[in-house]
Amino acid sequence: MEQKLTQATKKLFIKTYGCQMNVYDSNRMADALAPHGYAPTADIGQADLVVLNTCHIREKASEKVFSELGRLKELRDERRAGGQDLMIGVAGCVAQAEGEEIVRRSPVVDLVFGPQSYHRLPDLIARAGQGAVIDTEFPAEDKFGHLPAAKKEVTVARGLTAFLTVQEGCDKFCSFCVVPYTRGAEVSRPVEQVLAEARGLVEAGVMELTLLGQNVNAYHGLDSKGRSVGLGELCHRLAEIPGLERLRYTTSHPLDMNDELIGAHRDLEKLMPYLHLPVQSGSDRILEAMNRRHTRANYIDAIQRILNAKSDIALSGDFIVGFPGETEADFEATLSIAREVGYASAFTFKYSTRPGTPGAAMDEQVPEPVKVERLARLNEQIMSQTRAFAKSCEGRVLPVLIEKKGRNPGQLGGRSPYLQAVHMEAPERLIGTIQPVEILAAGNNSLLGKIVTVAEPKSASVVESQASVA
Ligand code: SAH
Ligand code: SF4
Ligand code: F3S
Repeated sequence: MEQKLTQATKKLFIKTYGCQMNVYDSNRMADALAPHGYAPTADIGQADLVVLNTCHIREKASEKVFSELGRLKELRDERRAGGQDLMIGVAGCVAQAEGEEIVRRSPVVDLVFGPQSYHRLPDLIARAGQGAVIDTEFPAEDKFGHLPAAKKEVTVARGLTAFLTVQEGCDKFCSFCVVPYTRGAEVSRPVEQVLAEARGLVEAGVMELTLLGQNVNAYHGLDSKGRSVGLGELCHRLAEIPGLERLRYTTSHPLDMNDELIGAHRDLEKLMPYLHLPVQSGSDRILEAMNRRHTRANYIDAIQRILNAKSDIALSGDFIVGFPGETEADFEATLSIAREVGYASAFTFKYSTRPGTPGAAMDEQVPEPVKVERLARLNEQIMSQTRAFAKSCEGRVLPVLIEKKGRNPGQLGGRSPYLQAVHMEAPERLIGTIQPVEILAAGNNSLLGKIVTVAEPKSASVVESQASVA
């Protein structure tokens, strides 16, 4: 103990861009460095090591990294003028895609390492110093098997909901997308490894898990008998963990929405009635050019099968406007599929040309002003659908997982089963419980509600341990 206290601690600051998997990865990097004396700091000015965990999905996301590196150079120069130093690392999908090019453009960088190298981070840091260290390999060893778990108190501090990567990489090669290149081929983690991590999280107080994967519903991990298990069965196994109250998963591909998974939505109360199922476009011509491998009719059919199994599901999606060759008629087909499916929410993007993807070499790139105009029209429609869905919740009583204090004094904040933010006046002791909340009003980004009858926490010890989360 004494030795630990005297050990010099270094400060780590990780800035995370991009998707939830990067959020999960940033935590795992912090966990990997904790045994090596690195403690997280929220103040970049205090950091000895800054890691940018980057996203390559669209040009804008990618370019942000280089402007941040410009600012970091100034910070490091100040440090050096004061006789101290700062180590700078670039991780994530830009690191994987650009590798050495990052150091060429920005010599301030000491470390460049891709998503499959995070378990090697302590070793990479040890090697940095004599020139930049670059590791963008796809190693043979199992990254997850080599990453240490978070300490219990670290998980407690991270809150009541947690991400858990169960699958990584993608074999689909949509013609617009960099993910198959930055994350590599599809890999599923073994069932027991997932269950063990989930149990650890739940023991530390996590009540809701979101399973992550670039194509999470293509999950096919091996169980202890060497049998391949799909996401539906994995959800069943996870739902057996006592104390785990809610399960979600993201992101799914329409072709991998199999009957077993759809059955899990019907049979598992813990599996939340919310599904993010991107379609990208409503036009068959564009879907084909995107190499999505499904038609509009296939997608509608998948939605129908899901709604037949469970009618009460809020659907969400992703859309790209302005893919090469997209005509006004194609775009109108996108507007119409969004209406037909009746999404409760959606993410919309202007097509961004990504180097190295087949889309970049296609003729008929759509002019920027056309993309801007289509995005605005789609957004307007999606916003009105989202408002209508929120409005339809008024008067309903929804179980809300109360997570934290709200913005206003006396208010607490949580999530509905449909992933909507809900605010209500309630005593702090209810943080870490699920309460029946009557929805009084639908705002732009959240719902306002009131607790109907307080369901008291199960035991005093639960209250105590949850109070420290707040
Ligand atoms: N694996 C998920 C999506 C990962 S990327 C899936 O298959 O659905 C998240 C979203 O970013 C995509 O669904 C897509 O809508 C958007 N996206 C990906 N590449 C893009 C590009 N080049 N330009 C604009 N949007 C893009
Ligand atoms: Fe990208 Fe398509 Fe794979 Fe999704 S399925 S990650 S959009 S290539
Ligand atoms: Fe971005 Fe990589 Fe995620 S490109 S969206 S951080 S998988």
